[in-house]
Amino acid sequence: MNEKTFVMIKPDAGKRRLIGEIINRFEKDPALNIKELKMMTVSKELAEKIYAEHYGKEFYERLINFITSRPIVAMMVEGENAISHVRKLIGATDPSKAAPGTIRGDLKEVPVKSVTENLIHASDSTKSAERELNLFFP
Ligand code: RTP
Ligand code: MG
Repeated sequence: MNEKTFVMIKPDAGKRRLIGEIINRFEKDPALNIKELKMMTVSKELAEKIYAEHYGKEFYERLINFITSRPIVAMMVEGENAISHVRKLIGATDPSKAAPGTIRGDLKEVPVKSVTENLIHASDSTKSAERELNLFFP
């Protein structure tokens, strides 16, 4: 099924000068097309909307502070089964558990200092893709 998903290259990627390397991984994948792309700073209000599902969790404040700390790159990515395809491309949430060949696995800081600073986000379902794309590309 052709799908659109939301991808966010997180502040640690910019800080570590990995934005180009990460975008390149999407461009090299023949199954995916970048349809929209913008660099921006996420406001606290927007951060709270994206991460509403994590409100109250131990890492919530850390996550909001992190995601608003520096600019991010937001993308709309389209392709066959793009939602699950991109989740595989980015790898496990915890970079120390992300497989070689994945973005988080290959580009993680060694040693891994943080689960929160894991370079990239991608929508995990049709519903979250629609919700997140509407927040960033209304
Ligand atoms: P994402 O939403 O960013 O694509 O990541 P995910 O589905 O793989 O992970 P999720 O469980 O939704 O968590 C969202 C983001 O919160 C940060 N996090 N920090 N223990 C921690 O410090 C911790 N746990 C999660 C990460 O930035 C994670 O991607
Ligand atoms: Mg998630």
